[in-house]
Amino acid sequence: MEEVLERYRGSTPKSEALFQRAEKVMPGGIGHSYRYHWPYPVYAIRAKGSKFWDVDGNEYVDLWMAHYARITGHAPDFIIDGLAQKLSDGLHVGIVNQHEVEFAEMLCDIIPSAEKVRFCCTGTEATMYAVRLARGYTDRKVILKIEGGWHGPNPELMYKITSPLESAESLGLLPETSRYTKTLPFNDIEAAMRAIAEDAHDLAGVIIEPVPGAGCIPADVHYLKALREETLRVGALLIFDEIITGFRVSLGGAQEEFGIVPDLTTLGKVAGGGMPIGIIVGRRDIMDMCDHITRPNTWERVNIGGGTFSGTPIGMMAGLLQVQYLKESAHLIYPKLREMGERVRRGVEEALRQNGINARCHGYGSLYQVVFPFGKDEGIRSPRDILDRTDSQKRDVEYKLRMMNEGVFVVKGGGALSTEHSDEDIDKIIRATQKIAQEMRA
Ligand SMILES: Cc1ncc(COP(=O)(O)O)c(C=O)c1O
Repeated sequence: MEEVLERYRGSTPKSEALFQRAEKVMPGGIGHSYRYHWPYPVYAIRAKGSKFWDVDGNEYVDLWMAHYARITGHAPDFIIDGLAQKLSDGLHVGIVNQHEVEFAEMLCDIIPSAEKVRFCCTGTEATMYAVRLARGYTDRKVILKIEGGWHGPNPELMYKITSPLESAESLGLLPETSRYTKTLPFNDIEAAMRAIAEDAHDLAGVIIEPVPGAGCIPADVHYLKALREETLRVGALLIFDEIITGFRVSLGGAQEEFGIVPDLTTLGKVAGGGMPIGIIVGRRDIMDMCDHITRPNTWERVNIGGGTFSGTPIGMMAGLLQVQYLKESAHLIYPKLREMGERVRRGVEEALRQNGINARCHGYGSLYQVVFPFGKDEGIRSPRDILDRTDSQKRDVEYKLRMMNEGVFVVKGGGALSTEHSDEDIDKIIRATQKIAQEMRA
C-alpha cells in the first residue's frame, strides 16, 4: 500500500498543496463529505465527455460523473452552446420565466407520476418538501425510509444511513424526529409489511429509492408492488426518490422501468443538465396542497415556495436542453447504457474474481458498485447487507487509490456511465481492474 500512496502523492503534488490550504479554512478541507478520500482528493480543473483533468494535469476516465448527474458526459456542446446564448440575457432575475413552464410541461409528459411540478434548488430540498407534502396531505406523522437510504442531509431523513444503522446521522438533530422517521428493510416484503402495519394508523408515507445509491442493488419489482399496494391500503403515500434513477435507468425513471407509479417523486441530478436542481412531481390533488391561490392561508397549505435560486432561467434552460435531448434519443441512449453497464459489471467482477479477490459487482443499467463480501456472497440484497456483510468500507479506500493511479476515477469501486463513455474507456476500466487485482493478490 505504501507504494500505491507514494505513486499517488508523486503524481498529485498540486492537489496535496491545495488540500493543505483548504484544511486551514474549511472543516476537513471539503464542502461535501463524499468528495473527500484518503489521503486527500484531487482538484479538478476541467471536464469534458467521459473524462476530467486535475490541477497536476492527470487525466481520469470519470465514473463519478458529478454525483451521477452527467448522463450525457461532462460539458456537452448542446448544453454549453444553449447556455452561452442564454447567458447574455442575464443571470437570475427572480421573476418567473417561460423555460420553467416548458420544463414543467415536459416533465408531466415524461414522468408517469407527474401531474404537477415544483422546482427547488437541490435534491435535499425536494425530499424535505416531499415529506412535508405527505404529512400535510395525510395529516399523519410517520415516514418510513429504507435502512441505508440517503435522501440528502434533510433532517427529517438523516437516520440509519451508515453503519451500525442505529443512530441519527448527525449531532444537532432533534431526537423527537426519530419517533416519526422510522426504517423498513429493503427487498424484504414480509419485514416491510410488518413495519407498515406497526404504524399503519399514523403512516404518512414511505420514501424509497428504487435503486438505492447505497449499493446500486435494484429493488425487486414484487417488493415495490407490495409497497404500492400496502401504502394504498393503509392510506399512506408512496414516494419514489428518483434523484439518481430519474432519467438514468430510463427516460421516465425507475417508475416507468418497473411499471409502478408512486404518488410523489423527487428528481434532481440528471434533470439539472449540470446546474443545481431539485424537483417534486406528483398527483395533482397532493401537489395542489401547496397551491397558494386555492389555499391562501398558510395553516391550510403545505408551504413549498421558498428558494431564492429556484427556477433560475439558466437552470431551467439547462434542464430543458438535457431532458429534451434524452427524450429525442431515448431509443438509442438507454439500450446502449444498459449494454455498457452489463459489459463493465461483468468485466470488472471477472477481473477481480479471477485474481482470487472475493468481490461482487452490483448495479442496474448504467450504475454499478463493487463490494467485497466477508464470506460467501450469496444473498446480498440490500444496503444493510452491504454494511453488515462486506468489507467494502475499508477496502474502498485502497481500491480507489489504485484505480486513480491507473487513470480511472471510481466511487465505491464503480459509478455511473454516460453516453460519452467509449468502448476504449470501458476497456481501460477493465484493464485497470485486472492490473490492480493482480497487484492486490500479490
Ligand atoms: C437518492 C438521493 N436523494 C437525494 C439526494 C440529495 O440531493 P442533493 O445532493 O442535490 O441535495 C441525493 C444526493 O446524492 C440522492 O442520491
